[in-house]
Amino acid sequence: MKVIYPGSFDPLTLGHIDIIKRLSKMFDEVVVAVLINEHKKSVFSLEEREEIIKEQMIKDGIENVSISSFDGLLVNFAKENDIKIVARGLREVTDYEYEKNIAMFNSKLMDGLETIFLLSNPNYSFISSSGVREVATFKGDVSSFVSKEVEERIKVKFEY
Ligand code: PNS
Repeated sequence: MKVIYPGSFDPLTLGHIDIIKRLSKMFDEVVVAVLINEHKKSVFSLEEREEIIKEQMIKDGIENVSISSFDGLLVNFAKENDIKIVARGLREVTDYEYEKNIAMFNSKLMDGLETIFLLSNPNYSFISSSGVREVATFKGDVSSFVSKEVEERIKVKFEY
């Protein structure tokens, strides 16, 4: 069985990696779907975000993960790829409120689509990509929030 793990991944955090690893043990294939959001300026380009995830999976020896990108509605990507399960991580109750709403929209938009939630590892439950970007903007230490590889990418991007 396949599952979609969608997100912006700008950048990939330790929390994301933990969720991908856990999903990879539960499903035959995890399709990490990177949002192409043309309206929102991302720090890392789509190509960079995809490359970062790909490299991290190789480094961590996770083989049943593929990386794709999508534009527009997630349900269209799910239909095109014939996948009926979407997974998201839940950090705090505020995530639940936001995620529940999206999950309801998605289940109305696509018959049979299920969204499953994995509780974030408590060690990572405060980490967000936006927080990492904020710290990086001021050249702060991001080593507790992202992998070594992503930290190096951040240092290059933000000219540490
Ligand atoms: O990493 P993020 O930014 O929290 O991921 C959010 C994402 C990409 C999962 C969500 O915004 C999404 O699925 N966007 C695509 C548009 C869509 O399908 N929205 C659902 C109907 S409201």
